[in-house]
Amino acid sequence: MGLHSAIYQEHLLYDMRKISIRELFFLKFLPFNLYSYTEGLFKVNVTSGTAVTMDLLRLFLVSETWFFYIQKKDYDEHKLIQRRQLRDLSRSLSVGHPSQKAIAITNLLGLNLNYFYQDTTDDELLQLIFQVVKNMAQFFGQNQDYLSSAYRELLTGKHHYKISQPILSALLLLGFLIGQRVFTAKEIENLFLTAILKDVGMGLIPEEKFYKKNLNKEEIELLSAHAEHSEKILEGRIPLTPEYLQIISRHHQMGNSSLEKVENSAQLCGVETLLITITDIVCAITTDRPYRKKEGIFPALEKIRPLMGKEYSQEFKFLVQYCRNFFN
Ligand SMILES: [Fe+2]
Repeated sequence: MGLHSAIYQEHLLYDMRKISIRELFFLKFLPFNLYSYTEGLFKVNVTSGTAVTMDLLRLFLVSETWFFYIQKKDYDEHKLIQRRQLRDLSRSLSVGHPSQKAIAITNLLGLNLNYFYQDTTDDELLQLIFQVVKNMAQFFGQNQDYLSSAYRELLTGKHHYKISQPILSALLLLGFLIGQRVFTAKEIENLFLTAILKDVGMGLIPEEKFYKKNLNKEEIELLSAHAEHSEKILEGRIPLTPEYLQIISRHHQMGNSSLEKVENSAQLCGVETLLITITDIVCAITTDRPYRKKEGIFPALEKIRPLMGKEYSQEFKFLVQYCRNFFN
């Protein structure tokens, strides 16, 4: 390897951003070169201007190429393109086939939520996400049949669980709230927003902590502090009332309660916090983590049964029936 090449590779090492194949799904053409990194070398894999066709994506999937690298100078532009795609799609949800729209908006929200986690001071992106989630609540309110397919597709997209978990739990919650017929459309919209935004504090946690199996006391506290961090990140920036922000800061309190305390905690937290918490726990148990395997829906429901106590036994019965259909 020549000196120039060695220096160039060294430069690339500090100048590259990793992107996932799922970040290519909504592009018609590549606006930048895609690099691969093998045996310590970056090589151009696909050149700028190439059409992003199904054949190209299939080729990546078959060769199990899940990640690429792009140059830092292109990354900001890439994020702006995805932001535009999200804005445009959320404004045209009523046009075209709802099943495709449901899947696309859910995945695009996931990408953009990830960019927000990278920079939680990005106010423009936060406002966009807030508006998009409101539009999604309306859209899914009229197209409930597509909630479970959007849920399944999001899982196949293999987003990091800090991104997929709030969206999955919000989709599960939304169908449950609609089916209950006791909440107003506005309350349902606010709870859907609350469920999606409740984990933005995860953006402040160092990446390696998400993969550790045995966390020490400080690390457990750091991870659970994401609920309070989420509230602080959102406070004064989005039009959610203090009640909903309080649900965000408390959304792990019930799950952390010991079983002797749960009936009290259910009364203390209120039904809205309870519903956000139980759908969050159901999604967490039924999805894989880097440090443990997922469990089935019925063991998950058994685990949350004590949290609902006698007071919410009717809601629990409804939840079991609802989950039976949702996860079918
Ligand atoms: Fe959380």
